[in-house]
Amino acid sequence: MTSKRYAQIVGWGKYVPGQVLTNDDLAKMVDTSDDWIRTRTGIVERRIADPRETTSTMSIKAARAALQVADVVPERLDLVIVTTATPDYLFPATACLVQDALGARRAGAFDLLAGCSGFVYGLGVGSQLIISGVYENVLVIGAETLSRIMDWTDRNTCVLFGDGAGALLLQASDAPGGVLSFTLGADGSGGDLLMLPGGGSRHPASAETVAQRLHYARMNGREVFRFATRIMGQAAKEAIQAAGLKIDDVDLFIPHQANIRIIESAAKHLRLPMDKVFVNLEKYGNTSCASIPIAFCEAIEEERIKPGDHLVLVSFGAGLTWAAAVVQWHVPLPAPRLPGWKHLLRHIGYRWVWLVSRLRRTYRKFSSWWGQAVGRIRGNDNG
Ligand code: UT7
Repeated sequence: MTSKRYAQIVGWGKYVPGQVLTNDDLAKMVDTSDDWIRTRTGIVERRIADPRETTSTMSIKAARAALQVADVVPERLDLVIVTTATPDYLFPATACLVQDALGARRAGAFDLLAGCSGFVYGLGVGSQLIISGVYENVLVIGAETLSRIMDWTDRNTCVLFGDGAGALLLQASDAPGGVLSFTLGADGSGGDLLMLPGGGSRHPASAETVAQRLHYARMNGREVFRFATRIMGQAAKEAIQAAGLKIDDVDLFIPHQANIRIIESAAKHLRLPMDKVFVNLEKYGNTSCASIPIAFCEAIEEERIKPGDHLVLVSFGAGLTWAAAVVQWHVPLPAPRLPGWKHLLRHIGYRWVWLVSRLRRTYRKFSSWWGQAVGRIRGNDNG
């Protein structure tokens, strides 16, 4: 008889850009105030990627940190999922850029788009691929460079969002726990409430789409707010029930960090005291897919999680989508620190991987050029 498999979270990592944009800074850009943003959203500041940073570069940093915590080498990864609404390109997938930079030679890689619910969707998919026996190690990343799709003249949206990345490494285990349940949902009839209209097949990029500002995120905040307050508690309840637990069993609630009023309303709906709710949105604003993994990492850093704890992750976002998952924590904390020589070895390994990737690209260009040159010579000879 084969023993039951579980998908445990064994590694975690985050990355946030260094540049801080405060509410006061925003008040100099649009007609808003620190007081309005704080009281209506709970946000105080957010991080903004510098021009060299992208969703893939931030993902890579978060992913390397997660692999380091777990002491897992990238060659052992079976799958890399990047959940994002702001990929580096429409294609190739940002996950492929991450897979290449990590040197995860055996891994499949794809991007997952489900609005801000993307990360919990990714956790659901990744955990099932482990529980079903298909994979051993799956890296789920949530990363966003939302500052690149913000209309910095629109106070309805630009005050809300920020950039960053977080990653969790899922690993197969015989020990009970890990991702116990999840629930995913969607209501596409609300797709127009939060969207990036331009750049897809409906409105391909053109001078017109730029003039019409279609390449910036648009949102009906009030409607999204109404939807979020209704769905967060409901989704969390479903996932808790599916895990065979009661609300009293929840030790920590880690919600999507969009708005403190939405979080408080969900906590009220669940009758959860706020000391069981993790909140860090004052520092980063809404980082969409990155918000839950960044919050998860900070909950660990702040010693809010201990072995045996039941954690509930809940998100909502563009689509409209929603998702919730229940996780039972298993790994002892704090995680043991890797010895210095292992850090060094990893560092050298990543430089080596970078070099090999560049050599491959150069070889491909050379062999394509060589093939054409030989073809031309043969053509001339025959002529
Ligand atoms: O991950 C999912 C992403 N989306 C969300 O999480 C958004 C969910 N929605 C929200 O968080 C809230 O609806 C907002 C924070 C976006 C807005 O808060 P609200 O309390 O729902 O405000 P409102 O939309 O009802 O607007 C109230 C007023 C309006 O003025 P009038 O029409 O009453 O004169 C807005 O124009 O506040 C105005 N307003 C602002 N004022 C100062 C809207 N944005 C701002 C601003 N600064 N940044």
